[in-house]
Amino acid sequence: TAAPVITIDGPSGTGKGTIASQVALALGWHLLDSGALYRGLAVAALEAGVALDDGAALAALAGRCQLHFVSGQLHLNGRELGDQIRTEQVGLAASQLAQQPQVRAALLDWQRAAAQPPGLVADGRDMGSTVFPTALVKLYLDASAEERAQRRYKQLRDKGLDANLANLVEALRVRDAHDRERLHSPLTIPADAVVFDTTTASIAEVFAQVMVVIRRTL
Ligand code: C5P
Repeated sequence: TAAPVITIDGPSGTGKGTIASQVALALGWHLLDSGALYRGLAVAALEAGVALDDGAALAALAGRCQLHFVSGQLHLNGRELGDQIRTEQVGLAASQLAQQPQVRAALLDWQRAAAQPPGLVADGRDMGSTVFPTALVKLYLDASAEERAQRRYKQLRDKGLDANLANLVEALRVRDAHDRERLHSPLTIPADAVVFDTTTASIAEVFAQVMVVIRRTL
């Protein structure tokens, strides 16, 4: 990839999506929310009745789906998906199909093509480890499981979506296990990543710390 890339990986509820979009805005770079791609494909699979463990059928589905962002909003075959993809139900479905190597392969070129000048900020689970191994700056955001569930709860409620804290704690636990224990591109800390524990930090504090690391390198 010709354009410089900054990767931000970590489990859900660490604020990496918010930080990634703030960094992209501050630098004037492109933004890739890779989780949204897996979520969009999960919506397509649920609608088409494709089994979430059928790698070949899912890859074929990915091949005939049009997934693209229009001013930050994911569109599936020309239709804006909106907050429908943000539910924990869709997140769980995404983490199931994300275990299939054919699915990950089908989305790889798409993700790499997002590295366009002047640069790209990419957030997800395997941005630094697999998709952009030569990224200029690799960041990894973490936080305690309780705090992450609390944040997801607040996020969903703020969007007006249904949320139950006990259910969320359980759903996050299952999704974390899927993401960390899968065979292909599991969630890991890239060897050359700078790690931030955001458990007790505000978004503004994390953003400031992250920008120090980025400015040091750029
Ligand atoms: O980041 P987000 O919570 O939107 O991602 C939803 C799911 O998509 C994750 O739980 C994970 O299983 C999958 N995913 C992935 N690789 C990425 C981004 C997301 O496997 N790079």
